[in-house]
Amino acid sequence: MKIAAASCCKLQHFASQPVWDEIRTEQPDALILLGDNIYLNHDFHSDPKKLAAELRSLYAQQKAEPHFAALLSDMDQRGKPVIAIYDDHDFLGNDRYGGGEDQALCEAARHELVTAFSPLQTGDDVYSRRRLGSPGAEVEVIVLDARFYRRKITDSIFDRDAMLGANQWAWFEQAVAAAKDVPYLLVVSSTTAYSYGLVEDAWERCPAAFKRLCDLLRKRRGALVVSGDIHGNDRYDEAGLVEIVTSGVARRGLVFGKPRANYALFDFGPQSLRVEQRGLKSSDRWTGVLPLNHWQLP
Ligand SMILES: [Fe+2]
Repeated sequence: MKIAAASCCKLQHFASQPVWDEIRTEQPDALILLGDNIYLNHDFHSDPKKLAAELRSLYAQQKAEPHFAALLSDMDQRGKPVIAIYDDHDFLGNDRYGGGEDQALCEAARHELVTAFSPLQTGDDVYSRRRLGSPGAEVEVIVLDARFYRRKITDSIFDRDAMLGANQWAWFEQAVAAAKDVPYLLVVSSTTAYSYGLVEDAWERCPAAFKRLCDLLRKRRGALVVSGDIHGNDRYDEAGLVEIVTSGVARRGLVFGKPRANYALFDFGPQSLRVEQRGLKSSDRWTGVLPLNHWQLP
């Protein structure tokens, strides 16, 4: 059971994206697009119709990029899912989130994701769960929507419902409980759990919600968070919560802005998970094995 994951893809700067051919060569059983899959040119939309039109145009352009199109077509022909969520740049714009914004604006952005990638939905929401893999190495994939219900950090410090909102939190906790007998739990979050360097959008910036996330997953063997957003590959598990970050599939780095072609491959076996982070830069490359009976980063 092999899953590929990638995020942060800016067609405006990378008109040709051969990195998707590498992923297609791997013949993954699922492709996760972690967000910032497109980049709005205008971050200050206030008209839902104009926002929707720009998102629709950008999704169409990205889906027409030949290497990406070939990967999508290959996934489709093999009957393998493409699992997509948005982050800020494919939602309302740089660093924006739903809390405090016009509901119609948020719904317009969500509708365009649904139109572009047909994600599984929970009611009108784009958070979802599905079970993948073969007997003995099943993976429960839980996709969170960390943008629609997010609020200002200053309003979120003591809020256990921060990042997801009360309803999504309740759903998330039920989903984790319902998958207690599944070997692996892959939690997809567009933004990182840990605040690598000075990442403003990390869960860790909202301590009550971060603690709730850690409490939910740290004792759960086989659970990991996969996230994007930061234009680099990274990993961490100090609080007992294992996180693999893969970001910058077609993007420049935040620091020393060199081109990146980063993605991650997850190979879920009966005894262990093998993670391979790939990229052009040596510091983005890493391979490790997490045995189910000793669940931590090596
Ligand atoms: Fe982002």
